[in-house]
Amino acid sequence: MAALPAIYVLNGPNLNLLGTREPEIYGSDTLDDIASALEDRARELKVEVDIRQSNHEGHLIDWLHEAQAEGAKAIILNAGAYTHTSVALHDAVKAITVPVIELHLSNPHARERFRHRSFIAPVARGTITGFGALGYQLALDAAARL
Ligand code: DQA
Repeated sequence: MAALPAIYVLNGPNLNLLGTREPEIYGSDTLDDIASALEDRARELKVEVDIRQSNHEGHLIDWLHEAQAEGAKAIILNAGAYTHTSVALHDAVKAITVPVIELHLSNPHARERFRHRSFIAPVARGTITGFGALGYQLALDAAARL
């Protein structure tokens, strides 16, 4: 049987702390809760999700390259605070042809000024923000339809 289309779900710094990290902003779901809900939805959509988290910028860049090399169908990227700082991630997204969906649990535009700038947005296919853990489901639905 042919392999299912793969969708990478890449999570950046501090997202390993979801559940206990500022739950009034990010909600009470852990990254494991989000991952198991995504795996359920992926089965329905007949895609495969590869869900990863790293606190290191270079790992995220390597995984973007890997997604391209492995022929991934799409990438969902919550780059955390690197969203607002990383020219290297901007360049990596620009360097690949796999469509990248930028995702944030919170709505950075409704928060501090330093979160208003995204280095990912100009090179992303689209952006989903402000829907908490539900945003991952919305992003997966969008990714599966690309
Ligand atoms: C975030 C928003 C970023 O500003 C923040 O640095 C994060 C999480 C979000 O998912 O809402 O770490 O990407």
